[in-house]
Amino acid sequence: MEKLKIAGGDLLQGTVSISGAKNSAVALIPATILAKSPVTIEGLPNISDVNILGDLLEEIGGKVELTNNEMVVDPSEMISMPLPNGKVKKLRASYYLMGAMLGRFKKAVIGLPGGCHLGPRPIDQHIKGFEALGAKVTNEQGAIYLRADELKGARIYLDVVSVGATINIMLAAVLAKGRTIIENAAKEPEIIDVATLLSSMGAKIKGAGTDVIRIDGVEELHGCRHSIIPDRIEAGTYMIIGAAMGREVMIDNVIPLHLESLIAKLREMGMHIETSNDQILLVGGQKELKAVDIKTLVYPGFPTDLQQPFTSFLTKATGTSVVTDTIYSARFKHIDELRRMGATIKVEGRSAIVTGPTTLQGAKVKASDLRAGAALVCAGLMAEGVTEITGLEHIDRGYSQLEEKLTGLGATIWREKMTEKEIEQLQSS
Ligand code: EPU
Repeated sequence: MEKLKIAGGDLLQGTVSISGAKNSAVALIPATILAKSPVTIEGLPNISDVNILGDLLEEIGGKVELTNNEMVVDPSEMISMPLPNGKVKKLRASYYLMGAMLGRFKKAVIGLPGGCHLGPRPIDQHIKGFEALGAKVTNEQGAIYLRADELKGARIYLDVVSVGATINIMLAAVLAKGRTIIENAAKEPEIIDVATLLSSMGAKIKGAGTDVIRIDGVEELHGCRHSIIPDRIEAGTYMIIGAAMGREVMIDNVIPLHLESLIAKLREMGMHIETSNDQILLVGGQKELKAVDIKTLVYPGFPTDLQQPFTSFLTKATGTSVVTDTIYSARFKHIDELRRMGATIKVEGRSAIVTGPTTLQGAKVKASDLRAGAALVCAGLMAEGVTEITGLEHIDRGYSQLEEKLTGLGATIWREKMTEKEIEQLQSS
């Protein structure tokens, strides 16, 4: 086991290049199951979730090659192997195997997904969608069993706007008979990316990126080559880091349109930001940053996935900021850790109230989930002294080459092996 160490306070300068989007990758890889011939996905991020999904495709008989961030999947000999346990439980996105395997084999058994603990994360809307398409869905000893004689297009209204349910229903519907209409669909860029891959495979999908998606089922899908979109959450994390500690930080390989809510909030605080086609420049050196309130919302609102690192940054702002998460009620596990570093924050219900400015102090902290980890990295870079972060397995699920990218900007950050005693202490904490 390893820990991350950061000697804070370095001013950052330079260019950081953004990797492919994690939350696209985790849906694009299962989507390959639906094709009859090899699919190539290029630009994948170098993160553990990608490797685990590749292994899962091999478990069901796929041939998977991953080199230089490019994955080639030959799905022709895949079988409807039940996956009730094991690696499926390591990541939440394994729920996409349900939609893809149901679509191709008309049956699937998938262990209930793991992932970050952010409060209740039901999948009732996914199941409602599968049932509307004609599947019988049962939960047996912690695994979801899906079976259908045939899948038939249906009109599905999502009671909750859900990224996962929207994508999963698309996956199950592309090979169903007739037309499926998803109403109140999520509009995240990752949904458009998955629809683009499926369309290149021969699917007929209209309206991805709006709240009504129409899918006309086709007989079969074929292989293709697809290039993934850049990770707006990784880009947003580096923007926040750049805003906190940058002299001039250029974010490269980014779609600025995907980050409008963050850009607006940073400008409201007094940051100077310039955007071009695929780059965002943050210019630091402001004497004072204004406190702002943020409320996380579905896209194009402020993303819940950036709420945690943004909260670290707000400790630098003058005044009181209120951060409200309307998507995940319990996404505040980073707050106790930030307090250990000297932040003045209290949690009231779904909101964190931050009072600043505070100079954070290096401390030993633990990442409880992926974006809590990003918040602590951000805090560590801002802090005086050395910060030691454990729980790296969470961070490695979502940030490609984190130390290399930050070192490239001038940060002092490195990994160290944990001693037996430290591991024992961590496990008992
Ligand atoms: N919800 C339901 N029922 C459902 C599905 C969702 O009530 O059947 C609720 C959830 O509890 C939540 C809200 O709807 O309150 C939104 O959930 P959504 O389904 O959109 O989230 P998700 O698909 O499970 C994805 C990302 C998350 C990201 C959210 C919101 C993946 C693998 N995960 O989760 O990413 O926070 O959308 O944008 O794509 C992360 O990257 O750190 C992460 C957690």
